[in-house]
Amino acid sequence: MLDVEAIRKDFPILDQIVNDEPLVYLDNAATTQKPLTVLETINHYYEQDNANVHRGVHTLAERATASYEAARETIRKFINAGSTKEVLFTRGTTTSLNWVARFAEEVLTVGDQVLISVMEHHSNIIPWQEACRKTGAELIYVYLKDGALDMEDLRAKLTDKVKFVSVAHASNVLGVVNPVKEITQMAHEVGAIMVVDGAQSTPHMKIDVLDLDVDFFTFSGHKMAGPTGIGVLYGKEKYLEQMSPVEFGGEMIDFVYEQSASWKELPWKFEAGTPNMAGAIGLAAAVDYLEKIGMDAIEAYEQELIEYVFPKLQAIEGLTIYGSPDLAQRSGVIAFNLADLHPHDLATALDYEGVAVRAGHHCAQPLLQYLEVPATARASFYIYNTKADCDKLVDALLKTKEFFNGTF
Ligand SMILES: Cc1ncc(COP(=O)(O)O)c(C=O)c1O
Repeated sequence: MLDVEAIRKDFPILDQIVNDEPLVYLDNAATTQKPLTVLETINHYYEQDNANVHRGVHTLAERATASYEAARETIRKFINAGSTKEVLFTRGTTTSLNWVARFAEEVLTVGDQVLISVMEHHSNIIPWQEACRKTGAELIYVYLKDGALDMEDLRAKLTDKVKFVSVAHASNVLGVVNPVKEITQMAHEVGAIMVVDGAQSTPHMKIDVLDLDVDFFTFSGHKMAGPTGIGVLYGKEKYLEQMSPVEFGGEMIDFVYEQSASWKELPWKFEAGTPNMAGAIGLAAAVDYLEKIGMDAIEAYEQELIEYVFPKLQAIEGLTIYGSPDLAQRSGVIAFNLADLHPHDLATALDYEGVAVRAGHHCAQPLLQYLEVPATARASFYIYNTKADCDKLVDALLKTKEFFNGTF
């Protein structure tokens, strides 16, 4: 069982008053808060060890390099990758997916298809649109059934024309968790490369890339108690060996001649320029923090919160919740609308009560077009949220409803 009160003490930002109310932070799908250990690790790095990595022979450079590469090993273990060669540091999920789509440009040709789902974040749509536009391949979509991925639709569309399948592990709007292990098996049966956007799953559940057998897996540090500006692209070594670097410059080269150059071995051939050392080291500190709590305990606790709050939200007349009502398929993201109230007004009203939620299209416009809503509000939970936070959300929604009563 997770000691939430102790966890909350690790996140000083939570202990503040917003609009005369104690802050209830429910915008975790956008970015999570950072525990003291992450802040202290970054501070310690800059106070004691800061130097450029892989370049110097002096003590600080060696210390910085050792910490940076130790961070890579921490991430490798965290996702159970076979080798640190398969763990590339990037700016985040968006960069990671762009790199994979750039690889796809080397592989795709006219007549090929890329299969994604309608619930994808823009960062798992637009890179594929670009790859298809440049190669003449076709981008096709799997749609929804009962608020979750329609597996029959997926089965029907997954022919041997499909060369890449790319889906979110967990949706940042519907909150549903997609069966990526099963989808990976299906993709491999037709010879397709399987890519998973793990931005909304990695912070909340145990990830085992070997067990999932995915070919590429991506996530962002800032959504999992780590710093901004750092993320990961996991790729199977056989694909990363084939793949050309996306960026060129210092650090990633073996030898440079006037007219040509050769690349370093994996993973460094992808990391051009001075990397985000403090970010990588901070992300490793976040991973250590989450693992100390336990990923299974985190998942179970967030499930408990969802089971607590979901029926209370369902009971609010006029509140529409998007995504499957089957809680076994859901993570801690709940998107909703309150009657005809614009979600921005709703989020502003909740903010008056100290409750921070997101409002808008959540970078998933094709999904909202499919759902035929312009925008939604969204509450998203993390390890430091409590049942009292859930009650506060429900009370604030009821207050808002009362305030606007008669106008909708
Ligand atoms: C499902 C999903 N994919 C990708 C992203 C993009 O992540 P980042 O902005 O950290 O690159 C997000 C961020 O909200 C997301 O929720």
